[in-house]
Amino acid sequence: MIPELSNPSVCMRDPQRVQEILQSMVKAGSNTVQVISDFDMTLTRFAYNGKRCPTCHNILDNSKLISEECKEKLKELLNTYYPIEIDSSRSIEEKLPLMVEWWTKAHELLVQQKIRKDMLAMVVRESDAMLREGYQLFFDHLYEHSIPLLIFSAGIGDILEEVIRQAGVFHPNVKVFSNYMDFDDSGVLTAFKGELIHIYNKREGALLNTGHFQELRTRPNVLLMGDSLGDLTMADGVQDMENILKIGFLNDKVEERKQSYLDSYDIVLVKDETLEVPNAVLLYLTGNK
Ligand code: TMP
Ligand code: MG
Repeated sequence: MIPELSNPSVCMRDPQRVQEILQSMVKAGSNTVQVISDFDMTLTRFAYNGKRCPTCHNILDNSKLISEECKEKLKELLNTYYPIEIDSSRSIEEKLPLMVEWWTKAHELLVQQKIRKDMLAMVVRESDAMLREGYQLFFDHLYEHSIPLLIFSAGIGDILEEVIRQAGVFHPNVKVFSNYMDFDDSGVLTAFKGELIHIYNKREGALLNTGHFQELRTRPNVLLMGDSLGDLTMADGVQDMENILKIGFLNDKVEERKQSYLDSYDIVLVKDETLEVPNAVLLYLTGNK
């Protein structure tokens, strides 16, 4: 067993099953593995020194590109819809239209702000965006072992890319599915491109990208990482899947949500701000342990 799986933050409903999945994957070899990860609150920290860390949207919302009036409105949306996102008493079916409403309203507000493309790097640089501790090893190790990493995010692709670029880990093995901004000829935001990705339609997003999964068809073993129950469908496009190991970060409302996370994620990391466990799994899968 991987020693890190005994860390106090680790909870597993069926440790034996985790062991079996890991063994099958290690036997198949790391050249059959692909990693699919959510971004906000999965690759980035949930909190630092007791203060919440920003999502992609929050990075923009808190920036000087947004007027005070618009900031108020975005904050109202967050205060209304985030509690719904994490409410364990409501079903996904019930939450879905409300999440569409949140994303639609937030994007409409952002588009009204005439955001300039050439300001995004500065906004990210001046933000409190923080990848989880251990991110360097995570990204570098995947790159060194030519393991594809798909970052599948309902956040904002342009911001997310800038975060990992500035951290020096946007390696060529990284591919991003997310909401991308559309700019006019003078570089001003006019809309978001393509189909909206929100937290509960990642399955549909995955199925729209068959080309990507077709390319990776020789990698039927998946390591999936998320922080929302919506992230569990990110691998629905994977062809002829053999094994999947699902690691879930449970950041907020722990007691209420723990059982549902244990029922759906193989490994649940409770209030763990690091990538220590995913990294240990990766090292194990690549024979470094
Ligand atoms: P993720 O799929 O990369 O985790 O991104 C989704 C997160 O973005 C989700 O937890 C909610 C958050 N969010 C905001 O913080 N502000 C917003 O305006 C919207 C629409 C989403
Ligand atoms: Mg997330």
